Amino acid sequence: MYKKQKRMQGSVAWQSPSNLAITKYWGKYGVQLPRNPSLSFTLSNAHTRTKMDYKTGQDKDAVNLKFYFEGKENEAFGKRVFLFLNSILDLAPWLRGLELSFASENSFPHSSGIASSASGMSAIALCVCSLGKLFDDRLNDTAYFYKLASNLSRLGSGSASRSVYPYMALWGETDLVHDSSNEHAIPYHDIDPVFKSFHDDILIVSRKEKSVSSTAGHALMDDNIYADKRYEQAEQRLDLLMAALRTGDIPQFGKIAEDEALTLHALMMCSNPSYILMEAESISLIKKIREIRQDTKLPIYFSLDAGPNIHLLYPDEIVDEVKQLEKDVFSQFCVDGLIIEDQVGSGPKPF
Ligand code: DP6
Repeated sequence: MYKKQKRMQGSVAWQSPSNLAITKYWGKYGVQLPRNPSLSFTLSNAHTRTKMDYKTGQDKDAVNLKFYFEGKENEAFGKRVFLFLNSILDLAPWLRGLELSFASENSFPHSSGIASSASGMSAIALCVCSLGKLFDDRLNDTAYFYKLASNLSRLGSGSASRSVYPYMALWGETDLVHDSSNEHAIPYHDIDPVFKSFHDDILIVSRKEKSVSSTAGHALMDDNIYADKRYEQAEQRLDLLMAALRTGDIPQFGKIAEDEALTLHALMMCSNPSYILMEAESISLIKKIREIRQDTKLPIYFSLDAGPNIHLLYPDEIVDEVKQLEKDVFSQFCVDGLIIEDQVGSGPKPF
């Protein structure tokens, strides 16, 4: 099954999106295995485009690489990718002995505070799998291809495992979903069409780098006294979320999205050391969103990742009203008025 190739040279390229978890992954064990299942929207506009040039190298045992980000060599990220790729040689043995050169760029602005590890790592994993087709016939099977791409993405960054599928993806084993796995995400289809065109506009509150890396943040859960209850709660909320997605129940969906985002931040605030990753503007925006929802009955909701930016979630049918609100109200709380408009999308594509 595994074909050895002689000297080789070529390139592959993938565009892969970021994603927003509605039920959140926070807490991991072993080799990048999640403590609870998470279910996310695959985004569209926020994505990474990565081209991987490959050729046979001198070093037969390892994979070596250079990493260029937006035209400039990025040694720090290159080192992370080097460690990542050399750690997956059992799963992707075709990488052994290759010399790679990555050229990568993000669609979202520098220092917009948006985490790029999900789109960045999944784009790399997809390139690795495309190259693998030359060596392993199983990769010509679409389901197998994406399963391996998700598995490899996960080893690069947990949330990246969910970026390889269109619309929504579920990562983490749960009795609620047959075929769910801690090792890779699966595509999640049981959703009302209203969620397939849902909007997720990112209100940029700060351009600063995160003050705690996700990996360090996950580790804090190990000593968090609420951890076990939290993992139970995530499973219960997943159950409720799945029902809301199936029936198109937007208010229930929105409630779970907001509860999950605030729980994530509460967990960070009560960990040791404690982190407050929201800014004053994050709180102001949360209050504004709730106030406007109350007054206008518009179905607008928020989520956050492990940072201060606010994800504004709403259905496509109210897009005009929301754009007006963004202009008149929300942009005033954003740095330089910056809002990144995004929407649920159809997943990664080769280019
Ligand atoms: C808050 O996937 O960035 O965005 O696995 O250590 O790379 P590592 O962490 P990462 O954690 C993301 C956490 C989150 C919630 C989520 O995306 O589910």
